[in-house]
Amino acid sequence: MDLTPKRSAESATEMVQVVLPNDANPLGFILGGTVMHLIDIAGAIACHRHTRSLLVTAAVDDLQFLHSIKVGDLIILQSHVTCAFKTSLEVQVDVFSEETLTGARQLTSRAYLTFVAIARDGSRVLVPPLIVDTDEQRRVCEEAHRRRAQRLKRKMEAITPAGSTTPL
Ligand SMILES: CC(C)(COP(=O)(O)OP(=O)(O)OC[C@H]1O[C@@H](n2cnc3c(N)ncnc32)[C@H](O)[C@@H]1OP(=O)(O)O)[C@@H](O)C(=O)NCCC(=O)NCCS
Repeated sequence: MDLTPKRSAESATEMVQVVLPNDANPLGFILGGTVMHLIDIAGAIACHRHTRSLLVTAAVDDLQFLHSIKVGDLIILQSHVTCAFKTSLEVQVDVFSEETLTGARQLTSRAYLTFVAIARDGSRVLVPPLIVDTDEQRRVCEEAHRRRAQRLKRKMEAITPAGSTTPL
């Protein structure tokens, strides 16, 4: 396993595709589930490029759909690793719509996903550290640590039945 530290820019990914009628609801807007699928893929690609390992999606944080994206528009997904932990890492995925005729772009969603690196036998594997060069990248990573603490707290709440102190 190559644990050479990497920069976020080395794995940053952009996916672009046109929204086709098959992706849409009867109103002609892309289905939320299709957007979620593409977010998962865009996040996974950046994390695969960072880790070069097998991965599973462990968590997707709160997701909002701020604007609809219509058939004929482009959907653009930009993903980059915000922080690498021990066997897991966080990736940010920004989703934009772009009108093909005008080029007008809107941010439609921002998602934070956590992936866990696993071996074929299911054991966890270490992920390469993320190189942090700038104050802004340090701030982003600190925020990722805060989100991680919150999502692990939510996970414990989800697996611990109300009134019990032992997880399921
Ligand atoms: C995600 C999964 C591997 C975690 O397993 P686990 O035994 O609960 O977790 P572990 O104690 O081995 O922790 C491994 C890492 O995952 C992180 N993790 C585990 N659950 C997490 C969650 N819900 N959110 C964020 N991180 C999580 C841990 O913090 C740890 O990270 P670290 O090593 O960087 O500190 C396991 O629950 C699983 O396989 N889930 C199903 C995944 C799946 O099928 N996804 C969809 C299809 S790919």
